[in-house]
Amino acid sequence: MMRVDAVTLFPAMIDSPLSESIVGRARAEGFLELEFSNPRDFTEDRHRTVDDKPYGGGTGMVMMAEPVYRAVKKVRKKGSFVILLTPKGKRFDQSVALELSKKKHLVFICGHYEGIDERVTPLANMELSIGDYVLTGGEPAAVVVIDAVTRLIPGVLKKSDATVNETFTGGLLEAPHYTRPGVWRGKKVPDALLSGNHKLIAEWRSAQAAELTVKTRPDLSAEPKVKKPASGRKKILS
Ligand code: ADE
Repeated sequence: MMRVDAVTLFPAMIDSPLSESIVGRARAEGFLELEFSNPRDFTEDRHRTVDDKPYGGGTGMVMMAEPVYRAVKKVRKKGSFVILLTPKGKRFDQSVALELSKKKHLVFICGHYEGIDERVTPLANMELSIGDYVLTGGEPAAVVVIDAVTRLIPGVLKKSDATVNETFTGGLLEAPHYTRPGVWRGKKVPDALLSGNHKLIAEWRSAQAAELTVKTRPDLSAEPKVKKPASGRKKILS
């Protein structure tokens, strides 16, 4: 079981997408407990103000430190791991997802508008970016990170093997998948997959994965990002 708290002005942006499909089921079955803490509920003025103009001028609004601080304090416990979502953060990838999936309690702080007053950043154990582009806020990034982490919680996926063989885990993209019909609009499923020969199929998939990775993501071919368990699957590229 993992507990996740999201500190956000817009909880529905996170709650709604994470109510569907596998993560929705993980929540219903108690693998993931997801709760929200809204900085607006921690304001004391009549207008429930959460943002203000930036010192030094410039466009947009900045989230004020105090409501965010109080919202985090309310949910943070000893042993919580606090993550601030920001395009300035460390780049999120599968190895970070694996690391986070081992934590008992994650707290995500989502900035909105131009960001949060810099003085709250020491609240975070880690600053995380999901890629080199600017979102309207940290909420869609929190959805991405929580999704990737939840599917790694033991028991969430029926076959845990699904997270061992998949794309990125071995530092490679995954081989292509096919399902029925065997011939679709004149396009045939590769013979190797129809052979019933498990060794041949494994070799075909390894070769496809290596070829695809070299062609479309040569940066991944260099060094496996996530070390495989010592049980020793065959390395394709190293
Ligand atoms: N907030 C805005 N853009 C973001 C990004 N790319 N990653 C994480 N948080 C963000």
